[in-house]
Amino acid sequence: MATKKFRVGILTAGGDAPGLNAVIRGFGKALTTYYGMELVGFRDGIRGLVENRTIDLGGSALSGILTTGGTILGTSRDKVNKYIVDGEPTNMVPQVVENLEKLGIDALVMLGGGGTAKNAKQLMDAGVQVISLPKTIDNDIAMTDTSFGFATALEIATEAVDRLHSTAHSHHRIILTEIMGHRAGWLTLGAGIAGGADIILIPEIPYTVESVSATIKARMARGSTFSVVAVAEGARDSKDSADYEAAKLLVSASKTPEATRAAKAHLAHVEDSQREHTFKLARELEAATGLESRVTILGYVQRGGTPCSTDRLLATRLGTAAADLVQQGVFGVLVAARGEGIEPVPLAEVAGKVKLVPPDHDWVETARKIGTGLGD
Ligand code: F6P
Repeated sequence: MATKKFRVGILTAGGDAPGLNAVIRGFGKALTTYYGMELVGFRDGIRGLVENRTIDLGGSALSGILTTGGTILGTSRDKVNKYIVDGEPTNMVPQVVENLEKLGIDALVMLGGGGTAKNAKQLMDAGVQVISLPKTIDNDIAMTDTSFGFATALEIATEAVDRLHSTAHSHHRIILTEIMGHRAGWLTLGAGIAGGADIILIPEIPYTVESVSATIKARMARGSTFSVVAVAEGARDSKDSADYEAAKLLVSASKTPEATRAAKAHLAHVEDSQREHTFKLARELEAATGLESRVTILGYVQRGGTPCSTDRLLATRLGTAAADLVQQGVFGVLVAARGEGIEPVPLAEVAGKVKLVPPDHDWVETARKIGTGLGD
């Protein structure tokens, strides 16, 4: 049991997500008011740690932020061990350790996704007492059932799929809606099922244009002259998917720095060439079915605005659980939502891993049973 009154730093890193401020508030109130410890905010994620830019979170700073979107701390996508200095990736871990010591910070709480868990592990390995909290609309963090931000994004994407039905139906069109999620299909699959999309395409199940157009034609034969297709931003047809997997394999198999650099450049090229895939699919479906096809990209709308009640509740529970862990002196963990409860999971079991949709997952089976096309 820790009895020491810690001075704790907090930061938000990676893409913004609904619920970040709710966690800052939940953690901050429990830490300062309940446990009587001290809280210091770092601005703009890892960048604030490296550049020693802090923000006072005392007074009324934690009031009125439960419902606000974004993050009051600011964020960035920097990597602490490959921080870009003069165009070169540089290991800033020693600099951060020195900054934390100078500021008298005893522990650091990091709100973020998979990349942040990796950053947290780097700092943990250098002796920093860290705790990470699972934030992402993608729901792809390993070892946690869910993450704050996901429920809100799911609501937004579901409403979009609902609303797109009006135009698709009235104009007899195919409407493809591109939904975020990076390389995971959780958000698209969830919103697609909840919004009643006719076809759902996710990265974990590569599609063929033939299969997608066959589903649309079968609907036309039954008298439905429109289709709504939920497309994950990471979804690919089987050829593009194979090219991407091969390029990724090349990176992990590279043995020398030169080979790694070349393989990474190749992977970036492959990713770049596949960027407009939803528009390409729309053209292909129009040609195959004769139905007018349109694309709606939901983009950052999915990450913005007030968190839904599910995320506010989760964020507050995770935040207060993190304060409990500080009090107990438990560090080097992700505060994970597991089953009905909240549990600390060692960062070593989280960093560098990603939680994808298993192709036999219950949600996939559910979609298949109601006749939703999955493109395979
Ligand atoms: O991780 C959240 C997310 O919104 C992903 O769904 C998406 O691929 C990515 O961030 C977009 O990142 P950026 O904010 O850098 O455009």
